[in-house]
Amino acid sequence: MEDFGYLRDGDVYLDSACQSLRPQPVIDALNRYYTEHNSCGERVKYAWGRKTDELVEETRAAILKYLKLKNKDYSVSFTLNTTYGINLLLQQFKDGIFKKVMTSDIEHNSPFLATMTFAKRQSIPREVMVRERDGSINIDNYDFSKALVVVNAASNIDGRKLLNIKDIIKKVHKQGGVIIIDAAQALAHSSDILEKTEADAICSSAHKMYGPSLGVMIVRRDLFNKIETSFIGGGMVDDVEKESYQLSAESPNHAYTKFESGLQAWGEIVAFGEAIKWLEKRSKADKQNLEACTQRLFDFLKSQPKVHLINEEPNPTMSFYVEGLDSHMLGAALSNEGIMARTGYFCVHYYLDHIMHYPPLIRFSFGYHIRPSDIDKTIKILERILG
Ligand SMILES: Cc1ncc(COP(=O)(O)O)c(C=O)c1O
Repeated sequence: MEDFGYLRDGDVYLDSACQSLRPQPVIDALNRYYTEHNSCGERVKYAWGRKTDELVEETRAAILKYLKLKNKDYSVSFTLNTTYGINLLLQQFKDGIFKKVMTSDIEHNSPFLATMTFAKRQSIPREVMVRERDGSINIDNYDFSKALVVVNAASNIDGRKLLNIKDIIKKVHKQGGVIIIDAAQALAHSSDILEKTEADAICSSAHKMYGPSLGVMIVRRDLFNKIETSFIGGGMVDDVEKESYQLSAESPNHAYTKFESGLQAWGEIVAFGEAIKWLEKRSKADKQNLEACTQRLFDFLKSQPKVHLINEEPNPTMSFYVEGLDSHMLGAALSNEGIMARTGYFCVHYYLDHIMHYPPLIRFSFGYHIRPSDIDKTIKILERILG
């Protein structure tokens, strides 16, 4: 695809679940910020600043439109990444709201660890729910009364999705709980699962959806009264006296400032808006190419007797190990051929190592940059290695 024209012929990038390759229009938007309106948002009144403000507002609106959510219900703030967003929420919930905190066994360390420290700090129990092989959670097995639930919408191991997300959200709310969704892996290729969601908060990373290095938090406005702002500084207040201050977030139009302390990554926010536009413009042919490449690699891996594929379904993120072959060595051999894949436990140590007892895995993950020739090459090299 010409938007990834900078990709050299021999390079096969299979690590999009970590960071997508950025399409040229996103890189151009970032460059435009630096060369045409390099300015602070929110505070400055000169023309460059007004341009930055306008584009930042467009990005906030674009992410809500992308998920078919309404500005009256949700506010959008930018952070460093998914991990930061989840921690920012968990660190600032008022005491005594929750009776327990719940997560699931296939979570990335980002919610998995943050829920551990939350439970300790609030002196409440923590429950680790079981995810079914298809990614769903059997909600009949769980009581969500006054629980804080933090779970992913899609896994970074094999892309399995929280298929019954709507039922979970409904039950959590019915029982007086709050649910935060880790959408790091969902927003690029599985955003439909979150459209018109009623989740209390969604935390994600622009760098996994063709955008620059940036986090985004989409927070229900009615969650705000459960949060005691303590991570605080510039850009968050309308007035300050010797021992008190007035938060700008008290005004609905500036609610997002509740989570945006200090100067923000304005250029990245602007370029993220471009990434969302770019994603929305993907053609049927782009989608078919991604699907066809996914299916071919999945079929190939499935057909190999020594390959233990974790995926039950084809997904642009797939993980496996090869019997009798160390994944790190396999990764190094692929790297020698220009194929960039991840090895290890991908920050899901508890599930992969301690529940499933898998050896370190190798993960192929890709996005719209993928070329059929990349799959040809990967299969050819793997055939040679696997014998
Ligand atoms: C499912 C999931 N959650 C959370 C994260 C953390 O994302 P970040 O490192 O951008 O905070 C990742 C990163 O790979 C992920 O895949």
